[in-house]
Amino acid sequence: LSVITDAAVVYESGSGRADSGQADSGQADSGQADSGQAGSERADAGPRISWIGPAAAAPAADRQIDLAGRCLLPGFVDSHTHLVYAGDRSAEFAARMTGAGYDGGGIASTVAATRAASDDQLRSLLRQRIEECRRQGTTTVEIKSGYGLSVDDERRMLRLAREVSTETTFLGGHVVPPEARDNRAGYVELVRGPMLEACAPYARWIDVFCEPHSPHAFTEEESRAILGAGIAAGLLPRVHGNQLGPGPGAALAVEVDAASVDHCTYLTAVDIDALAGSSTVATLLPGVEFSTRSPYPDARRLLDAGVTVALATDCNPGTCNSSSVPLMIALAVREMGMTAEEAVWAATRGSAASLRRQDIGRIAVGARADFAVLDAPSYLHLPYRPGVPIAHHLAL
Ligand code: NIG
Ligand code: FE
Repeated sequence: LSVITDAAVVYESGSGRADSGQADSGQADSGQADSGQAGSERADAGPRISWIGPAAAAPAADRQIDLAGRCLLPGFVDSHTHLVYAGDRSAEFAARMTGAGYDGGGIASTVAATRAASDDQLRSLLRQRIEECRRQGTTTVEIKSGYGLSVDDERRMLRLAREVSTETTFLGGHVVPPEARDNRAGYVELVRGPMLEACAPYARWIDVFCEPHSPHAFTEEESRAILGAGIAAGLLPRVHGNQLGPGPGAALAVEVDAASVDHCTYLTAVDIDALAGSSTVATLLPGVEFSTRSPYPDARRLLDAGVTVALATDCNPGTCNSSSVPLMIALAVREMGMTAEEAVWAATRGSAASLRRQDIGRIAVGARADFAVLDAPSYLHLPYRPGVPIAHHLAL
């Protein structure tokens, strides 16, 4: 039994309870290589919060962590990343800053570099990135495939991602790879068939880049077919949608009861109404607008309509090479009309909702003892001190 003072949060380590259903192990640092079996029950050895109250009333504990007035938050939940990849696209970024556009074409270069990398190289890059996330206060990381785009390379990406997170997402439907450019239909069938079959044991989610404004991504019909096959195989759907222009992604996400539609840069009033009446979360990724110099989505409009909003990084080599949730919170407040409270909620409880998780993203009895601590007295300092590394994972 340990107590964190100031906040007086008490946690117990190693409860040994078995998880079932949504309370599925997702700590970035679990280090448990789950060999597969989506939806299987997993032993839950991580610490859980057992008591919250005034410091003076806290039960006796073996150990005390004195925060000395620093702000304690739920650990950030980064519900959208592409952390398994090799290669570098800084030149593409530089070209964009002098006027080039983004249409997803650069993804092919990451696919080539990722296919050429060994397991050990990819694993070492992934682990460095996870460590970078944790240093900035993130305790759960969703990780997508999507830079393999062959049966073996997609399976390999998910196998490696599963070593560090149970929130793994099959994204064979990221783009049509160069070798399949003149056979789109054949590629969609590959994704829905043999690739899905090889990847499903290592994935909880299925995602697709539904984007008619990119010649490389997938149409509404192709996206529906890919998601439908994933759902039939027991995966839960999420969607990359409405990133480059208005499009069918958000409506399709609602249609299939996706947990989330991510990007939402261009939404119509009809899309917002549909999201408001659904259990689909709108995940905003303002680092993408920042790094592609695109207009920010109108978060205020979504919140005022009653849509559940999440914030995540989308950390990837093309559209946002940042793993900083604090930066996303700062952008949400400074550029998207969110209050600091809404932004912190979106990066914790909202992003947990986008993963259909109740056991993370909140400080509550029974929740995981996953915390971020700030070198600051208040969460207001996250948007107030942009770019300053004040947020850290609290090592227990
Ligand atoms: O979420 N939109 C599609 N996929 C990624 C970018 C991938 C890349 O450019 O490498 C995204 O922005
Ligand atoms: Fe993405």
